[in-house]
Amino acid sequence: MSRLGELIATLKAASEPTRLRMLALLAEGELSVKEVTDILGQSQPRVSRHLRLLADAGLAERHAEGAWAYYRLSDNASSGALARAMLGRLDRDDPMIANDRAKLEAIRAAHASRAAAYFATIAERWDAVRGMHVPETEIEAAIYAIAQRRKLDRVIDLGTGTGRMLELLAPLYRHGLGIDSSREMIAVARAKLSAADVGHAQVRQADIADPIEAGEGADFVVLHQVLHYIEEPSAVLVNAARALKPGGWVLVVDFAPHAHETLRSDHAHRRLGLSTAQMEVWGHAAGLDIVETREFANHKSPDGLTVCLHLLALRNARQQEAK
Ligand SMILES: C[S@@+](CC[C@H](N)C(=O)[O-])C[C@H]1O[C@@H](n2cnc3c(N)ncnc32)[C@H](O)[C@@H]1O
Repeated sequence: MSRLGELIATLKAASEPTRLRMLALLAEGELSVKEVTDILGQSQPRVSRHLRLLADAGLAERHAEGAWAYYRLSDNASSGALARAMLGRLDRDDPMIANDRAKLEAIRAAHASRAAAYFATIAERWDAVRGMHVPETEIEAAIYAIAQRRKLDRVIDLGTGTGRMLELLAPLYRHGLGIDSSREMIAVARAKLSAADVGHAQVRQADIADPIEAGEGADFVVLHQVLHYIEEPSAVLVNAARALKPGGWVLVVDFAPHAHETLRSDHAHRRLGLSTAQMEVWGHAAGLDIVETREFANHKSPDGLTVCLHLLALRNARQQEAK
């Protein structure tokens, strides 16, 4: 197709009220088909068809995860930029657009309070729950070995839960900071760190989707079994990268893609694992490159979950190291 033909097809895809509303919603972040359906109040097949049209026109990108599909505004330099330019002409206060956005905020608030309620209930027994998933000792040994490779002054553990990572790495750092949005988890972490005599780590309650007050910055930021709960993992990676000192590392440990829908329905997971390709895209947008990936399969159970460890480094620092 000629460039003219392509442009006309792209403009046609956007020039329909429902699809323009969808683009405005996707500009707020990645959304599942179900979320778009709930917001627009239209039938799911109709919503799927419109979203597919936007993806075919290059205005949106689709990514499948288990039984769910997620859409986001295209990162593509030409059609993505065109979508953003069109949305720039849209009045954000238009009643229909503002109403869609308000519904999206309500859906996100409901997800957040569901996750908070889940963590509030399991805070006391979280350490037992986390051990059920995977060969925890093997993973912890790998995390420790990676952290040990360089001298660590400051470590930040995002989504610290009961503070296990701060406790594990305590012999390696001078100052540790754990952040978690659950008051109950933070209370357990405080008690545990104090019982383990880890006086050089503090924990505080905050949302890691908000910018992190990292002071002079960290050498090592850990996200252990956290990103699959997060609405916008890319935003958290941007925050993690900003919290780093030059030459610092981010370590993400999370499930590989899986099909256990019950983790989403019953355990507040937002994503059924994270693929290396997806991590690369999010990392890249945050100025981070994956420098190492390792997989840990759970051989104990036939449908056990595989855990992936991704070590990411700040791109600029790596370029400078190479010079
Ligand atoms: C599965 S637990 C993992 C805890 C810990 N990293 C570990 O491996 O034991 C996930 C933690 O992320 C926290 N969390 C989820 N979303 C968060 C957010 N937006 N901001 C801060 N913490 C969050 C939860 O409260 C919970 O403690």
